[in-house]
Amino acid sequence: MKRDRVMADARIMNGRELASIVRKQIKAVISQANVRAPKLVVVLVGNHPASLTYVKAKERAGLEIGLNVELVHLSENITPIELKRVILAINHDSSVDGAIIQLPLPSHLQANECLNWLDPKKDVDGLSALNLGKLVNGDASGLLPCTPKGIVRILKHYQIETKGKLVTIIGRSTIVGRPLSILLSHSAWGGHATVTLAHSHSADLIHLCSQADILICAAGSAKLIRSEFIKPNATVIDVGIHKLADNTLCGDVDFASAKEQAGLITPVPGGVGPMTVAMLLQNCMLAWKRHFGLAIDDEEIL
Ligand SMILES: NC(=O)c1ccc[n+]([C@@H]2O[C@H](COP(=O)([O-])OP(=O)(O)OC[C@H]3O[C@@H](n4cnc5c(N)ncnc54)[C@H](OP(=O)(O)O)[C@@H]3O)[C@@H](O)[C@H]2O)c1
Repeated sequence: MKRDRVMADARIMNGRELASIVRKQIKAVISQANVRAPKLVVVLVGNHPASLTYVKAKERAGLEIGLNVELVHLSENITPIELKRVILAINHDSSVDGAIIQLPLPSHLQANECLNWLDPKKDVDGLSALNLGKLVNGDASGLLPCTPKGIVRILKHYQIETKGKLVTIIGRSTIVGRPLSILLSHSAWGGHATVTLAHSHSADLIHLCSQADILICAAGSAKLIRSEFIKPNATVIDVGIHKLADNTLCGDVDFASAKEQAGLITPVPGGVGPMTVAMLLQNCMLAWKRHFGLAIDDEEIL
């Protein structure tokens, strides 16, 4: 069913603006604290071009709000033992509050194994087994993965009710779809949604998507989702990022087609991406606050 033609295009959920608000809040907290500033260490292995761009963006965003950021750039050929030694030194350094290992890693390194070397208290990407386990258990003492956390934050900011709603997420990765499906369905995190987690083996994707009150696309397939996938007036969150031949960016959603059918939609760029970085900074602030026993707002956890 197509939306009534007299209705306006979807309202844009501005992740860039919301991320800026979050960054300003963090900056104010850091500048008013009477302990040293938080420190984030970014570990980059090799010279993956997209990773270099992401790492620089994280470094810049951190420095702008008063974080100390150290980039540890390691050789593509580093052995697992050498990398473990670097991570353990970070764990033992009490001046470091948060650390991330930029993914993807070269193929001779097992990402899951390397992520688990990090002290879970400093694992500000929230991807270690302990932090993912705490997410599943609804245990708020951990750190949540940044992209799912950023998406929940967008939904909250735009007052999108998830309780009792049908949510379809396309993509079951450990960094986006799977943890998000748990956050949105779990009673402990307040989601209470009925979640369908679709993947490349799912039958009839159009049907699964067009039932959804909230459709979240994290498939990594450019412009996969068009208006016929979208329930009229549904909320659409686009996680995908793709560089087109003309150097412009697009998402997993065909924005021009989808905005005629959706009620609210995130753009690419300017939607989920900036919120992911903002949540990384927020997780670093959270780890720092826990280290110094400073007061924590519920909103900083989720
Ligand atoms: N904005 C941000 O901050 C941010 C953060 C992270 C990722 N991203 C972007 O989000 C996208 C997804 O990232 P990811 O790391 O989660 O990707 P990923 O690890 O490659 O996972 C993609 C998932 O989508 C599923 N899938 C792929 N094509 C599909 C199709 N045609 N129909 C149904 N399911 C399909 C795959 O199914 P199978 O499991 O069956 O293979 C897989 O579960 C990428 O474009 C990435 O660049 C953006």
